[in-house]
Amino acid sequence: MGYNVAIDGPAGAGKSTIAKLVAEKKGYIYVDTGAMYRGLAIHFLDKGIQAEETEKVIEACKDADVKIQYENGTQQVYLNGTNITGRLRDEAVGKMTSKCSVIPKVREKLLDLQRDLARTQDVIMDGRDIGTCVLPGADVKVYLTASVETRAKRRYDELMAKGERCDLDEIARDIKERDFRDMNRETAPLKKAEDAVLIDSSDMTIEEVVEAIAGLCR
Ligand code: DC
Repeated sequence: MGYNVAIDGPAGAGKSTIAKLVAEKKGYIYVDTGAMYRGLAIHFLDKGIQAEETEKVIEACKDADVKIQYENGTQQVYLNGTNITGRLRDEAVGKMTSKCSVIPKVREKLLDLQRDLARTQDVIMDGRDIGTCVLPGADVKVYLTASVETRAKRRYDELMAKGERCDLDEIARDIKERDFRDMNRETAPLKKAEDAVLIDSSDMTIEEVVEAIAGLCR
């Protein structure tokens, strides 16, 4: 059994940035489960399926093969043999992902893949339900959050740096919508595991958060 660190929290809390840095520091493999859900969402989008068409989404799961590979230390996501890593962060993909991930069959499809990765290797895995559902026996569990304002501002800065036009209020609205959907779905909703350590990163630097989490790990 590998050493397992679970990081859950809402969109924009900085989970992936932090988890990548902790992984480097500790020599763990970073597993971004959101990227797997995003990979599946791209499959549905490419087939022209709407998130509301549940039966079509379930059917489309059958011919989706999402694979995670590590190339030069970075995670690459393949969908039916094509590297789709560059498309994962598109806004349309994020919205579709949040909507489709409420469907139990979609979650089932990725569960074994996530557990297999954690079984044999030391991993730090981030997502929404890692500490509660995917790896309930994880050695360390963290619930990483930040205020909506902080998360919206971070996303805004990220998009502006990429030269994309965006609106801070609209981003904040999207974040609230996504939080609501992720926290209120029936299957594996986002919530803090009872034994998770709560970290609010609103007033912390990246280094401070990395130190706090690394300090919990062996
Ligand atoms: O972490 P992220 O922004 O890449 O996740 C995108 C969406 O995927 C998120 O809105 C909810 C879903 N997701 C999930 O339901 N369970 C996970 N373990 C990871 C992501």
